[in-house]
Amino acid sequence: MRDAQPKTIFLSEYRAPDYGISHTELHFELFDAHSLVHARLHFRRSDTASDDATLVLNGQELELQALALDGEALDAQDYELSDDVLRINGLPASGVLETTARIYPQSNTSLEGLYRSRGLFCTQCEAEGFRKITWFPDRPDVMSTYRVTIDADARHCPELLSNGNLMETVELPNARHRAVWDDPFPKPSYLFALMAGNLSRVEDSFTTMSGRKVRLIILVEEIDLDKCDHAMDSLKRSMRWDEERFGREYDLDVFHIVAVDDFNMGAMENKSLNIFNTSCVLAAPDTTTDAGYQRIESIVAHEYFHNWSGNRVTCRDWFQLSLKEGFTVFRDAEFSADMGSRSLKRVEDAMVMRTQQFAEDAGPMSHPVRPASFIEISNFYTLTVYEKGAEVVRMLQTLLGENDFRRGSDLYFDRHDGQAVTCDDFVAAMEEASGRDLTDFKRWYSQAGTPELTIRDSWDAEQGVYRLSVSQQTPPTPGQPEKEPLVVPLAMGLLGEAGNLRVSLEGEMPDGETADNTHRILMVDQPHQEFRFTGLPERPTPSLLRGFSAPVRVDYPYTAEQLLALVSRDDDEFVRWDAMQQLMVSALQTLQAEPRRSSLDPLLEEAVNAICSQTLDPAVQADMLRLPSETYLAGLASHHGKADVHGIFRAREALRAALAHAFRQRWEQLFDAHRVTGFYAARGDQIGARALANVALDYLASGNEEGVSRAAQYYYAADNLTNRLAALRTVLREGDAAVGDALLDDFYARFKHEALAMNHWLSVQAENTSGDAIARVRALMEHPAYDSRNPNKIRALIGAFANANAVNFHKEDGAGYRLLGEVVEVLNEQNPQIASRLLTPLTRWNNYAQGSELMRAELQRLSELPSLSPDVYEVLSKSLA
Ligand code: TRP
Ligand code: ZN
Repeated sequence: MRDAQPKTIFLSEYRAPDYGISHTELHFELFDAHSLVHARLHFRRSDTASDDATLVLNGQELELQALALDGEALDAQDYELSDDVLRINGLPASGVLETTARIYPQSNTSLEGLYRSRGLFCTQCEAEGFRKITWFPDRPDVMSTYRVTIDADARHCPELLSNGNLMETVELPNARHRAVWDDPFPKPSYLFALMAGNLSRVEDSFTTMSGRKVRLIILVEEIDLDKCDHAMDSLKRSMRWDEERFGREYDLDVFHIVAVDDFNMGAMENKSLNIFNTSCVLAAPDTTTDAGYQRIESIVAHEYFHNWSGNRVTCRDWFQLSLKEGFTVFRDAEFSADMGSRSLKRVEDAMVMRTQQFAEDAGPMSHPVRPASFIEISNFYTLTVYEKGAEVVRMLQTLLGENDFRRGSDLYFDRHDGQAVTCDDFVAAMEEASGRDLTDFKRWYSQAGTPELTIRDSWDAEQGVYRLSVSQQTPPTPGQPEKEPLVVPLAMGLLGEAGNLRVSLEGEMPDGETADNTHRILMVDQPHQEFRFTGLPERPTPSLLRGFSAPVRVDYPYTAEQLLALVSRDDDEFVRWDAMQQLMVSALQTLQAEPRRSSLDPLLEEAVNAICSQTLDPAVQADMLRLPSETYLAGLASHHGKADVHGIFRAREALRAALAHAFRQRWEQLFDAHRVTGFYAARGDQIGARALANVALDYLASGNEEGVSRAAQYYYAADNLTNRLAALRTVLREGDAAVGDALLDDFYARFKHEALAMNHWLSVQAENTSGDAIARVRALMEHPAYDSRNPNKIRALIGAFANANAVNFHKEDGAGYRLLGEVVEVLNEQNPQIASRLLTPLTRWNNYAQGSELMRAELQRLSELPSLSPDVYEVLSKSLA
């Protein structure tokens, strides 16, 4: 490992800054070969700091051109300048510090700070990118108002944008021009943004609940002007929803969304100047899937919601990241649930949690929702901080009830408006609004790992008493060998022969006939607990963790008969879906143990029949009929032992073939019954119908030549990307190579000028499980459709290969690991954030029955590289520990 090891930062060492910056003036002079950043920081020493306190300014990759205090140049003995900090000693209690930095946006490949994307100047400052623009106390507890002047070439950069309100525009000599922006809301530096370039605008407006008219502007390349309607509609719906559900109104007269091609993540909530990855803005039926439309809606909402949960009330330090991210994901999930189907959204979020977040909890980078330490904060923009953090907020709402939760959120926003606060402050507001003591609940913020509930039951027929014994246990995670019990809201019901039974707990007063007495939330907060249900006419089947009421695993020894009962008759769609998953998982386990077995369990057959013959939401039906993913299965297997990815793959293919064969009639019927006629719309009814028809088509084509040619025709006839891609994937898996290649060529010819559609073209090939996948991926890395510096392309090709092509990534000779390692090696220099994210599948080396030695060896090889970024260093050192 490199000699100067990056430093670990601890939450316990947090100290408030000695100096604040009340106002910041920035003047950018943008040129092609370099840019100049002139800063005037109005500093003020805090009341608690001593007279000899130092002003600490972060700064990286900056060339110092000028430095002055209150108009006078500073002498060399007044400051210390290193690679990443500028310290100024002996300052008065307040004054103005002026700096000029020279920077090189055109050669910034990290996509942090000020960089260029297809010629456009843009910024990404979260978490610590502002220090690559100018010297500043680059920490979220320093909140300042900003006035920003931008000078640039008028022809290449007709648009000049920053946060807040436009104050003036000025023509300058030499075909240059200037814009001046003023943001009256104090904000941390990570919310600063600037954009300068040649983009076209789509404009609309929104009138807020108090009657203020807000201009809504989306900026994209001219050829994409026709792809903005969906994002604009999503924005307007989000603004209305946040007023209605959370009482939150927008606070400026203008709101911008700028779409850029080269972006490390999905989007960024900079005050009034959101910057988005093009993939999260642009939508058209030919180039965007149904899932893509839904993703755009939720990300537009997410960034908009940050205006309150993140911007008006921000984080004190980066350990509190989930304060804004967990809460905002919860808010966007509720929004999506209200815009579409609540139970479908729950099933899909549960799938992400169980497949990906549980794996993170079980891996070497495992951390709590509020981490206690980190080396590089960029590595902690994780499923744990975002999705598990949102589940923690959801559990709070479940415990408090919607009314008290809303009062808590009002109190939180009102009390902390304009402040940088902590997760404790959030919970304190919830405690005050509800009168509840949430001390024990708060362990969810500090304890890592996925709790497992082990549930057993017994039945006393004479007394009509049913007992559930519940134990909880959380496996150890790095740095946390001992775990304490958590407060787990366990939503449940009891299913009888004829439907849901009344749930009454022993010792409880019957609560009359008014309330819903078939549904209940058990508070599990001890290592072992017993719940006794009385007055039951028959032995029930427990319906557990309804609505995925907590981010936990449940171990209850269901019989296949019980699972069939839940699939067919339970009240809760999450439980029905989960029961079907469990039936499929056990069928897959049987197939893995006895590969020659060809008959299906009759109970699984009955379950499929039950799903097909009921009036369920087609989208949920589709999720129920789809095979559990290889990733989910590998995660389950490694929870109990080691995963055999090749065995999982073969078992899954065998189950697919068996289901395809056993239900040919059904697939025909479903496919015909759910074909969408009429114009494409990304509406719930159509999306659900397409999902179900495409699942049916996939089974129809499985091991069936006639079905494959149907799929090929369906590909050519498609009027939208969802159907076209579904058919393409099916043909690539089931058809002759020549047929698949013909479709790929056709796809390329149609969409070669559509960057976002080409990402899918790269992914379907990267995910192709045929034997030559590695050679194909290597060839595609040289293809004009690929760009080794564009994160979307890297994710589409390399990310898809490593995460969604297990049999090839885990090739016995280690060629898949080497391919990933080589890409990471290059990205370590170019774009460390993307490099360390890409490493994730290799870090799971300990999960596998074969290959773990080779995976470790590749990690070891990388760890010996001469210069590792802190991002990659942290992931490697924790994975090899
Ligand atoms: N705050 C952004 C969001 O959740 C996340 C983000 C965007 C980000 N770009 C980033 C985080 C770059 C780290 C680095 O919406
Ligand atoms: Zn966010």
